[in-house]
Amino acid sequence: MTSSPLAHLDEQTQELLATIAKTTTLEALVEAEPALIGKRSILSTLQKSLGSLEPEDRRSAGALLQEARRVVEAALSERRAVLQREARSRQLERDRLDLGDVLDAQVSHPLSVGHPGLIAVTQRELEDVFVGMGFTVADGPEVESDWYNFEALNIPPAHPARDMWDTFYVELGDPETVVLRTHTSPTQIHLMEEAVAHGTLPIHSVMPGRCYRRDTPDASHLYSFHQIEGLVVDRGITFADLAGVIETFTRAYFGPDITSRLRPAYFPFTEPSAEFEVTCTICRGEGCRTCSHTGWIELGGSGMLDPVVLEAVGIDGEEWSGFAFGFGIDRCAQMRHQVSDMRALIENDTRFLEQIS
Ligand code: FA5
Repeated sequence: MTSSPLAHLDEQTQELLATIAKTTTLEALVEAEPALIGKRSILSTLQKSLGSLEPEDRRSAGALLQEARRVVEAALSERRAVLQREARSRQLERDRLDLGDVLDAQVSHPLSVGHPGLIAVTQRELEDVFVGMGFTVADGPEVESDWYNFEALNIPPAHPARDMWDTFYVELGDPETVVLRTHTSPTQIHLMEEAVAHGTLPIHSVMPGRCYRRDTPDASHLYSFHQIEGLVVDRGITFADLAGVIETFTRAYFGPDITSRLRPAYFPFTEPSAEFEVTCTICRGEGCRTCSHTGWIELGGSGMLDPVVLEAVGIDGEEWSGFAFGFGIDRCAQMRHQVSDMRALIENDTRFLEQIS
């Protein structure tokens, strides 16, 4: 009697199972599959050899072989599932964003975060001082008509004061001419017109913003700079109120050892008018190159509202009076932080910008 071709089926099956269990990667498992259950595998070879058996032995041997194949295929698919899970979690591990690394990098190479520039910081500080004194903050357009920038402020077309405030004109056809505003004073007109229209007098407001002039940049001038305008319209306002507001502002913003003075000046829209100067912060009033050895620095202009201007916006000059002032925000920043050349404010040199917080 010939020995059964399945005499070693158990050991052979165990060997196949051991091979499957030892396979550690999906790729290796795919590669091993033909040898485990393919046409040239031991199980297929045994299958072919069953033909030599008697029919009744062939059936029971076939069942044994089928069971062995089922066990091997089940082990194979279970191992495949395990290896797939492991591959997925390795992939997730690779894709994971390690915030610890990001934080470490941030500590050794901090990202540079920007901050407001010196002019914006100064504007906010100036607004704070005036809000503390009871003023509100208002805004006005940077592009104005000739009427708001000049005529309503008592500066008709041929007036010599136009030379002081030469600017960029855009002729839109008579009578409309548009200008980049040369000062924040036109905002006075807008505010007074609104107050008249809505019946909301009195006014106690400051109006900061950008201005433009055809000025050649130098240590104390820019072609685009900033002013803060002040406007008070109320009953019984006198020059003493103007002087008091200017002195209170000066001490609040620059400190108690800096004082202000008003010197006679001329502006077409105020009468009387005064230039507003503060002690030079570079030399503390001793006299230096920056202040031309006078000990004083001009910050802006001021004066009592001219009745002609009140009349132009429909305010009764018998009942109401007021004052206005307008000074340079860039000039304030320059004085407060002792910046010898104003052009540094717009050059974007990071060595300068980094000194501001
Ligand atoms: C005026 O502009 C008037 N509107 C001020 C005024 C307002 C008078 C209300 C009366 C009543 P002035 O041209 O002097 O005045 O400018 C005022 C201030 O703006 C100057 O003192 C200076 O601080 C600043 N300023 C003027 N031109 C420049 C410039 N090119 N660059 C930087 N700052 C400037």
